[in-house]
Amino acid sequence: MSSVEYALDSGAIFPRDAQAAASHRRASVDAPFLAAVRGEKPSRRPIWMMRQAGRSLPEYRAVRKDVGMLEACFDADLVAEITMQPVRRHDADAAILFSDIVVPLKAAGVDLDIVPGRGPVVSNPIQTIDAVRGLPIVEREQLDPIVQGIGGILGELRADQVLIGFAGAPFTVASYLVEGGPSKNHEVTKSLMYSHPDIWHALMRQLTPTIVRFLQMQVEAGVDAIQLFDSWAGYLTARDYRQFVAPYTAEIFQAIKPYGVPMIHFGVGTGELLGEMAIVGPDVVGVDWRVPMDAAAARVKAALEHAHPTAKPEVKAKALQGNLDPAVLFAGEDVVTEHIRRINAEADRAIERGQARGHIFNLGHGVLPNTDPDAITRAFEEVHRS
Ligand code: CP3
Repeated sequence: MSSVEYALDSGAIFPRDAQAAASHRRASVDAPFLAAVRGEKPSRRPIWMMRQAGRSLPEYRAVRKDVGMLEACFDADLVAEITMQPVRRHDADAAILFSDIVVPLKAAGVDLDIVPGRGPVVSNPIQTIDAVRGLPIVEREQLDPIVQGIGGILGELRADQVLIGFAGAPFTVASYLVEGGPSKNHEVTKSLMYSHPDIWHALMRQLTPTIVRFLQMQVEAGVDAIQLFDSWAGYLTARDYRQFVAPYTAEIFQAIKPYGVPMIHFGVGTGELLGEMAIVGPDVVGVDWRVPMDAAAARVKAALEHAHPTAKPEVKAKALQGNLDPAVLFAGEDVVTEHIRRINAEADRAIERGQARGHIFNLGHGVLPNTDPDAITRAFEEVHRS
């Protein structure tokens, strides 16, 4: 099924003026990240790490000492400072906006908090049709501190570094809302999806405009790329994904596409879903550490061939992002180097075969809180050398 067939009525959330927004963008000349997405040879292999901002950094722990997570997310100066900390320390090719997937819900007035060591916790879990209908849709003005934070970051980034904005995809965001907090097996979410598909689809429809607006706001404020995190989609079968998730994710990519910024799609444990996640419309597919990069490229390419048999060859390959196991950063320099070289060789092989357009190095999921920051810096250096 092509992404066009997935399209729903997005009239209400279509960009007001994507062209005007695009003209305000920084001229990010010669950024290795953008070259890799376009299928050109970058001046060095681009690398950033999911959760590169956060508890692995002493400077992060210092500025967060007396400030709650959500409080920090709505403080423009802290958003800019925390986003830039890992970029300065590791010479990253991309900054990722310091925020959280629940920030647009909080901005819209949903009663939730991010509990240290646990994650997002929602006071009134959403499990009925009335609760779904009562979920507010975010207004742009409610996101003003984030717009200001983005301005601060863009003033500090070099022209060869990009800023990535992001949002959580509807399934992953819904999981927190339905379960009321982080979940190991997502059983409340999945049982709602299977037993009350009408409530489930209503919830997806209610969340989609808030996610689109969160992304539009970031792009209009100047981010150079976006990543849609469907972190927990790997708990679904491909069949469930197509039925319950893909239409809404495709609608989000369609709404952002007119802005022309690269769009990344990532989830954990999504080896069985890589093809599905490629055909809903991103430019870059994030790969977790369980699948070798060349195998991931082959799966993505096969799915695109099937979905768009008559399209130009370049449409049928995506750039790939990934995929060092975050735990490997604890195993010592030699092991890290060996894994980085293997991953780069797998990615380069896929590019040579025409199964991938380019490679953006990343972890297969986020930096773990106790990671030695010097081990992270050495990994950045090794990727830049190779
Ligand atoms: O550097 C970056 O990657 C940017 C910042 C970022 C955060 N959250 C900051 C954060 C991003 C991209 C996110 C997205 C996010 N939030 C996701 C998708 C990415 C993923 O990890 O799969 C998810 C699932 C969430 C929900 C969430 N928020 C969780 C599971 C947690 C961890 C709870 C904990 O304390 O371990 C959070 C909190 C959170 N988000 C922290 C940070 C830096 C830790 C809070 C703290 O430092 O006190």
